[in-house]
Amino acid sequence: MKRCARNLYRIALAIMMAAGAAIMDSASGAIAHAASVEAEKKDGLRAVYAGAVEVAEGKRIAQATCVRCHGLDGISTTRGVPHLAGQRPAYLYLELKAYQSGARGKKVMDGAVEFLSDDALINVAAYYASLDPAQFATARGAKSVLVKPDPVQAGKAAAAVCAGCHGEDGISKIPGTPNLVALDPKYIVAAMKGYKSDQRKHDVMKAMLAALSETDMNNVALYYALQTPARAQTPTVGNREAGKTAAAVCAGCHGNQGVSTNPAAPNLAGQDAQYLVTALQAYKNGSRSDATMKGLVAALDDRVMKDMAAFYAAQPPQPLNVPRPLTTAEWAQKCDRCHGVNGNSVDPFLPAIAGQRVEYLRKVLRDYRTRVHQSSAMSAMSDALTEADIENLAAYYARQKARAVVFVPVPGK
Ligand code: HEC
Ligand code: HEC
Ligand code: HEC
Ligand code: HEC
Repeated sequence: MKRCARNLYRIALAIMMAAGAAIMDSASGAIAHAASVEAEKKDGLRAVYAGAVEVAEGKRIAQATCVRCHGLDGISTTRGVPHLAGQRPAYLYLELKAYQSGARGKKVMDGAVEFLSDDALINVAAYYASLDPAQFATARGAKSVLVKPDPVQAGKAAAAVCAGCHGEDGISKIPGTPNLVALDPKYIVAAMKGYKSDQRKHDVMKAMLAALSETDMNNVALYYALQTPARAQTPTVGNREAGKTAAAVCAGCHGNQGVSTNPAAPNLAGQDAQYLVTALQAYKNGSRSDATMKGLVAALDDRVMKDMAAFYAAQPPQPLNVPRPLTTAEWAQKCDRCHGVNGNSVDPFLPAIAGQRVEYLRKVLRDYRTRVHQSSAMSAMSDALTEADIENLAAYYARQKARAVVFVPVPGK
């Protein structure tokens, strides 16, 4: 069972639209669904058949109480107010109960439902459920919705100018230019900021990064972190065996084979050898300021630096444990498991989200995340969403074609 409030679920009434009643004339092309009706019976729920009389009574209540915010057609023209037209009836009823009990905040609806009887709630839910759902293209007040680019794709696009030196996919072919694969995204971002702030003095890199925003830097770092690592395709320097011995003191932070055990210390495995020498020299001469590394390299001469570089450059770099963020389409597949194909729920207890107002979808998803709006199913789901995911999913569902659903009660076996 999907609902968290089990006791509420038990007393909840499944509101059925009387088959063939005039109120369902909007149902051309509607989805017929019977499975949930069966499920409700098992839970001891009672079906309430709302016919023309009940729906007319619901309309009267809507006219008296709800119309100034939700409109008589249930299609909202006000920011923050959701469309109700065609919403699933049992869901509407349960939300009205939640407002009445204060579980969804008392103030949002200005006390509109506070003194309504249970029958009134059923009727007004049935009325709004019977209406034609809003459509994105025709919905009044629908503004164009901005879609945020996928961070990995955006990172790839921003990294196009870097490929000339750092190589396609961050594998360098130029001695002195580092690999950007197999580096923790946090380290790459810190390195970029180091160039921008002159903590690392390098005019070329400073100029290259001048136009990148914080978001660009994060996206670029994520893009490189997700590429398949390989050793830099550059010549080596120094003596690898001698370097291995000398590098024993470095293993505590950079790992035995240059795969770091400490997120702040960069991976060195497979890095371009010439770049490693330059970096060590930079720590020593102060053009790259870092208190930890400065002390460690103070006593190293150029020959030892080259040997260490040869050792690390020869080690195989390892893939990072950085999850690839889900795309909006991948997320939507997860959401559709409960909310129906393209957000057209076929469960009377689960809200349809197709064609809903974009800013309402955003707000509600944030409300679940901050627990302003309590729902065990949605809180867990929304915890995993980033701000960009929320914007994209809201934009995606707001654009889906909303479809009416007919719930068909069938006799039990
Ligand atoms: C003062 C304006 C106002 C009035 C009057 C009002 N509502 Fe609402 N309604 C809202 C707002 C705003 C929200 C969104 C609240 C939120 O974000 O939780 C809402 C949410 C809802 C929801 C939840 C929808 C969803 O998708 O979860 C339902 C159901 C609802 N209203 C039904 C009604 C009914 C029925 C009436 C009349 C009895 C009514 N409202 C009167 C402003 C109003
Ligand atoms: C003209 C060649 C060139 C271009 C183009 C270039 N870089 Fe670099 N990059 C370098 C060189 C050379 C270094 C080594 C500088 C040093 O010694 O500190 C470097 C170093 C770096 C480092 C430090 C890596 C580490 O291990 O600390 C990062 C991160 C980086 N570049 C990112 C980028 C990004 C992102 C772009 C594209 C926006 C870019 N670079 C474009 C030449 C280039
Ligand atoms: C106490 C932990 C620690 C030890 C021990 C240590 N390092 Fe580091 N190393 C770091 C940190 C932290 C950084 C990143 C500093 C920065 O932001 O510039 C770093 C950076 C580096 C870099 C720059 C890599 C790049 O991609 O730009 C090289 C090269 C390096 N270390 C080599 C060594 C060598 C060789 C030794 C042994 C002599 C050593 N480190 C020992 C913590 C350590
Ligand atoms: C496990 C089932 C489940 C999954 C998966 C799920 N939801 Fe929900 N969703 C629910 C339930 C149950 C509710 C009603 C909760 C309540 O009563 O507040 C809901 C409510 C919502 C609402 C509020 C609708 C309204 O009209 O107020 C939105 C928006 C929403 N979900 C979006 C999503 C998105 C986007 C995803 C995918 C990231 C998703 N849901 C995944 C079960 C689910």
